[in-house]
Amino acid sequence: MDAIDVIVTKREGGRLSPEQIDWVIDAYTRGEVAEEQMSALAMAILLNGMDRAEVARWTEAMIRSGERMDWSVLDRPTTDKHSTGGVGDKITLPLAPLVAACGAAVPQLSGRGLGHTGGTLDKLESISGWRASLSTGEMLRVLRDTGAVVCAAGGGLAPADRKLYALRDVTGTVESIPLIASSIMSKKIAEGTGALVLDVKVGSGAFMKTVEHARELAATMVAIGADHGVRTVALLTAMDRPLGRAVGNALEVAEAVQVLAGGGPPDVVELTLTLAREMLAAAGVDGKDPADALADGSAMDVWRRMISAQGGDPDAELPVARESHVVTAPATGVLTRLDAYGVGVAAWRLGAGRARKEDPVSFGAGALCHAAPGERVTAGQPLLTLYADDAARFPRALAALDGAVEIVPDGAPDLLPLVIDR
Ligand code: URA
Repeated sequence: MDAIDVIVTKREGGRLSPEQIDWVIDAYTRGEVAEEQMSALAMAILLNGMDRAEVARWTEAMIRSGERMDWSVLDRPTTDKHSTGGVGDKITLPLAPLVAACGAAVPQLSGRGLGHTGGTLDKLESISGWRASLSTGEMLRVLRDTGAVVCAAGGGLAPADRKLYALRDVTGTVESIPLIASSIMSKKIAEGTGALVLDVKVGSGAFMKTVEHARELAATMVAIGADHGVRTVALLTAMDRPLGRAVGNALEVAEAVQVLAGGGPPDVVELTLTLAREMLAAAGVDGKDPADALADGSAMDVWRRMISAQGGDPDAELPVARESHVVTAPATGVLTRLDAYGVGVAAWRLGAGRARKEDPVSFGAGALCHAAPGERVTAGQPLLTLYADDAARFPRALAALDGAVEIVPDGAPDLLPLVIDR
């Protein structure tokens, strides 16, 4: 077999055979298929697609490129959640300890932010001492002791995806439904979770801008999960405005802690409870109701133990940016738009995100939204506070907000429902 045959098959709109897929993934992982060849194949897949059998085999080959974790020694079922990424999406932080407090185990391998979207590991690293890298043995110990672990995927997990994702990122081949679905699902299946809830974000701040595309991605991932014996459910949820009021690493940790303390913005609480109920149902756990676990402090207890078990100090002061800048409402009326993408790019330019994978993030940088779409505002009242370590970052962040805010004298915003479909 050679790479050119595989590329030409897909370039001409053909189906890749199981043997072609197994060979090309294995040879690419070993460095035998060159980056430029895989890049051409990824582009052919982006343009011509893959059918269900091809996607299933592609995912299987990526899983087989590395280790597959096994949590069968635990005395409770495992369940996990994956979000396709958004702005202000801190849901994993309250969700993992909440689901653990209700009786399931949550072995979550998370990622870092890239571009305008945030990453769970960057958020947690704003807690003094917290460590993202754990060995499999350490993961097991934290899971046994606390019921939940959130950490970075080790190099041995789906190494084919690690290489391919980095390549897609620089070759304009990220936005392919079969490639996104197989990338996400290969890591989640290799992680060894028994059940999985996918939070597929829709809107300006998400990968999938339309409900139609999000539905297709969700259906592809649910089918892959089913093929691999992972009970998988997908929700389509809104990402046309930021989730909650806080966008940026430490700012989001503070908001997540408010939710665990029984407060927090209503949309963050609602989505956390909805996803918790789905995760527990998918795992077949019929224990405590998640709303009770938030109210009685048991989810907060798990959070504190989970953070401490990974070296973090749950009582440490969170980092605060050196500079702030208040954006005021330009008019009186109803806030009908606070665009997720605009706010996400602003937070990114303030230092909350990175431009290249190896860049550091500023933990205190980001934005706090003082009003949500649908609320009445008065001209001159604070609408957003921007935070950065260097005031020179404010002008470019403000430029990202151009057109992101709309206030009308009267009327209602045209927003996606928080949970669009299941
Ligand atoms: N997240 C992933 O892990 N892979 C993709 O392809 C897109 C989002």
